[in-house]
Amino acid sequence: MNKSIAISPGKVILFGEHFVVRGTKAIVAAIDLYAKAEIEESSWPSEIISEGTEIRGKITQELKVVGSKELEPFARILSVLKNWGFQIAGFKAKISSEIPMSAGLGSSAASAAAFSLSYANLLGYKLNDKELFTLSHEAEKITHGNPSGVDSAAVTYGGILVFKKDVGIISKLKSLFSDKYSLIIADTGIKRSTSVPVRDVLILSEKLWPAVSLIYDASDRIVDLANEAINNEDYETIGTLMNINQGLLNSMGVSSLELEELIYRSRLAGAIGAKLTGAGKGGSAIILAPSNKVDNILDRIKCCSKWASRIKISQEGARII
Ligand code: PMV
Repeated sequence: MNKSIAISPGKVILFGEHFVVRGTKAIVAAIDLYAKAEIEESSWPSEIISEGTEIRGKITQELKVVGSKELEPFARILSVLKNWGFQIAGFKAKISSEIPMSAGLGSSAASAAAFSLSYANLLGYKLNDKELFTLSHEAEKITHGNPSGVDSAAVTYGGILVFKKDVGIISKLKSLFSDKYSLIIADTGIKRSTSVPVRDVLILSEKLWPAVSLIYDASDRIVDLANEAINNEDYETIGTLMNINQGLLNSMGVSSLELEELIYRSRLAGAIGAKLTGAGKGGSAIILAPSNKVDNILDRIKCCSKWASRIKISQEGARII
């Protein structure tokens, strides 16, 4: 094979971000925004271009990055594949993505998964889900330092998942948001790295653990109740739990004026649940609303979002196309 293409969905965390880093559960959903990796055989040094960004550069046969540091996660993927015994070959890769970057929507995990799948396919190998998860997660360690694995799980397996660090997927939930209720993503347009808010939350939790541990417990209980509510298609309860979850994230200092504005405007326009999603301090909000309120909400938040749209759950994870 001399050319291979793979895509991977992005993700939203519905419940439990940040707390999941210290071992509580989270609920994450793959969404219908995709990253794509087109790779063809070429000579060394290999070349990676990320369309629509300044990210481009070369990777030498010794797996050294020349050019943008943002290519380090891809070099890590090649190095893991090499350790697994693959005969690494030179290539030219084009990465493109509909998923806004640094917005809490899993663009780095999705690009890593699409790249891994496409490159292994070019070498004539079909990665299984566990291998794909590992490669995306290894890349995320370079990008974010201390990832729980929740993003890599969502982009690998698709659907709605209950996830726990060091355990993996606890269950796959049934799909939601068909006719009467919808999910909306709204991006503040404020880009931030994941590692800074993650570090700040960990510092705060260390400092005040006797009080903060109760917030972690509350998040874990919210995930249990949300799991039940999703299974029962009890949208009002799902929405209320999203709002409580937002209160916990706010108390840990990861909300922002811009996020709160999106969240309160959405609730006032008819949303039954609204919270930040991902690392916060900018990035995106996830909003649950009756479908007949979606236009009103989009209208009321257009002033304060760089981008907002109704999204659907992607049942499938990363795949060759
Ligand atoms: O990188 P983001 O914004 O999608 O956030 C990832 C979710 C966190 O819980 C904040 C970190 C993690 O690794 O679980």
